[in-house]
Order: sequence, then structure tokens, then C-alpha cells
Amino acid sequence: MSFQTTPIRGRAIRSAPSGPDLAARLRCRVAGQDEAVETIVPYVELFEAGLSPEGRPVGVFLLLGPTGTGKTRTVEALAEALHGSERNVLRVDCGEFQLEHEVAKLIGAPPGYLGHRETHPMISQHKLNAVASERSSLSVILFDEIEKAAPSMVRLLLGVLDKASLKLGDNTAVNFERSLIFMTSNLGAREMEAEFGRRYGLAGLIHDPACPGRLDAIGASAVRRRFSPEFVNRIDRMITYRPLARPDIERILDLQLAALERHISTRLGPAAFRLRLTGEAREFLIDRGVSPRYGARELKRVIHRHIIQPLARLVLDKTVEPGAVVRLEPLSCGSGLRLVVEELVEGEDERLAA
Ligand SMILES: Nc1ncnc2c1ncn2[C@@H]1O[C@H](COP(=O)(O)OP(=O)(O)OP(=O)(O)O)[C@@H](O)[C@H]1O
Ligand SMILES: [Mg+2]
Repeated sequence: MSFQTTPIRGRAIRSAPSGPDLAARLRCRVAGQDEAVETIVPYVELFEAGLSPEGRPVGVFLLLGPTGTGKTRTVEALAEALHGSERNVLRVDCGEFQLEHEVAKLIGAPPGYLGHRETHPMISQHKLNAVASERSSLSVILFDEIEKAAPSMVRLLLGVLDKASLKLGDNTAVNFERSLIFMTSNLGAREMEAEFGRRYGLAGLIHDPACPGRLDAIGASAVRRRFSPEFVNRIDRMITYRPLARPDIERILDLQLAALERHISTRLGPAAFRLRLTGEAREFLIDRGVSPRYGARELKRVIHRHIIQPLARLVLDKTVEPGAVVRLEPLSCGSGLRLVVEELVEGEDERLAA
């Protein structure tokens, strides 16, 4: 059988509200997880084209893989790309719903029950709509650490994933037809580490061509052991995050340093200054902030302790002039970073900005 395609003339092609470069913008914010980006973006495009299925959420994703590799960051980055702020995510921490009776916190107690008026459901149509924006009516919802959810919560979720609907305690319903649903889990992460980590260290396994397929298989089988087939069948895509490779780690450091400079400039305005890290200072931060076992989870804390806190002291002591450059280099004892205030030489500002 052959199909003929007829070009449609004269019809304006609507540009997507998220912009044609959504994938590129996500790749800029999330290092080394291109498969995740390429899997998620088509679902957003389907929604923006008005073609996502009726009576279902726009997409249901389960993000798996080692800790600190960008699962939660991806969801925040998508919210930022769609709505302009990483805070436009309705986040449900499933660790708070480990006991059967805690589900009332999620949907609110039925009328007549003790405390009905005081229990505001964690999920409501209003909250779901509030994380959409004028730029896009697509809401992003995140169920973090889904493996910790009590069985009654998983049963409730079945209806959400299948029918895009959740009945609340007060008998009203929440509609998820304009939602992208993300669930994250560390299921299988320990087995992934046991299988590959002992041999190469998690970071080394990226060079093993069998790695991606094998990690996917470990993740999928851990999920199948933990959840019912009904639940697993309602997931559109399971995405296994890769351990971070060295270039990804470098990019994550650059992203966090750029965010820090933006923060300094927003907070201090004309009194802001620039940062310049020596190669050794970068190594110092990476050594302490990134590990095969915890991914890049610690990096923010390390930057906080070794850069932001000492910078605050410089600002309070008024030892840094507006527009100056603060050079960071490791102390010779290796216990921290030395901050050296330098004068800005001519042309330096443009070079740093680049
Ligand atoms: N691939 C990545 N790209 C950009 N930043 C990253 C990436 N991986 C980790 N980070 C940084 O590390 C922090 C922790 O990552 P994130 O919260 O996404 O981990 P996770 O995969 O959700 O881990 P967990 O399974 O423990 O929840 C992020 O806030 C981000 O700053
Ligand atoms: Mg996470």
C-alpha cells in the first residue's frame, strides 16, 4: 500500500508556544541525558499541535536511574522552558504518603468526616491550573519517589494515569488531560550500581556499549517486581538516566556557576562582581561535589560552602569593589578555596561575559 501526501497550501503553521527549540533549551539545562529530552519533547509537541489523546494525560513518564543524575532537574527544566519558572511544577513527594490513611492529605477528607474543613487536598484543579501559565496551558506534575507511595495511593494513581481523572474527598474531580505526569524512582539503582559499579565505578560504565540497554533492563525489571502490570501498562515511557560522564559534570559545574553569577547580579545590582575560577579550583569543586555514587547531588552544597559563604564575608567586609573580579583558587593545604579580589582590566568584562 502506498500513501500520497498532499501539501496543504495557504494554512498558517502555528508556531509552538514552547518554541521550536524546546529540545535545545532542555539540553542546555540538563547535561548528558539527551535520550530523556528526545523522549519527552514529542509529547509536548503533540499537545501544542492539539493532537494529544482525549481522556488521558498528555504523557506519563517514569524516570529511573542512579541518584543525582538529573531526573528531578529535567522536570524543573521543562517547567522553566514551558512557563518561565522551574517552580511551575505541582510536586507530590510520595514519601509523605507511605501509610494508607495519609492518602486523605492527597485528596482531602470526605464531607462529614472529622477535619474535613481543615484538610485541603494536596492535588486540586486549582493547583493544577496554577502551575500552567499564559505561555502554555500544559501543567507539569511530579510524583517523586513513587516506590514509596502506599498501595492505596498507587490505586488512586491508576485512575489518573488511565482516565486523566482524580475524584477528591468532596466528590469533585480533577482533570489531568492537560498534564504531563512524571514519576521518579530509584528502583533498580542499587542493582545497577552492583552490576556495573564494582567493575568500573558507575561513571566508567558509560564507555561500555552494553550499558544503556542493560541499565534499561535492570530498571524495567525492578519496576515490574514492585508494581502491578496494570500500573506498568499505563506508563507511556520509562526512561533510565545514565551515570554522568566527565564532560556532563563540567557542564553541570558551568551551569551552576552561571546561575550563581546571575544570582549575584540580581541581588547586588550595580555592586555585583564577577567570578573567575582557576582550573584547580574547578577540580576542587568537582572532586568534592560529584561522585559516582551520588551524582552531582552535592555540587550545590559544595559551591555554597566554598564560594557563596566566603563571598558573603567579602561583601560584608566591603573588600570587593563593584565590577571587580574575584579569583578562586585552592588553598595550598587543600581544605578550601582562596578568594582573591582582582581589579577588572580593560576588555575583561566582555571576555568574562563571553
Ligand atoms: N544531568 C544533569 N544536568 C544538570 N544538572 C544536574 C544533572 N544531574 C544532576 N544535576 C544537578 O544535581 C542536582 C541533583 O540532581 P537531581 O535532583 O535531578 O537528581 P535526581 O536524578 O532526581 O536524583 P534522586 O534520584 O536522588 O532524586 C540538581 O539540582 C542539579 O543541580
Ligand atoms: Mg529526584
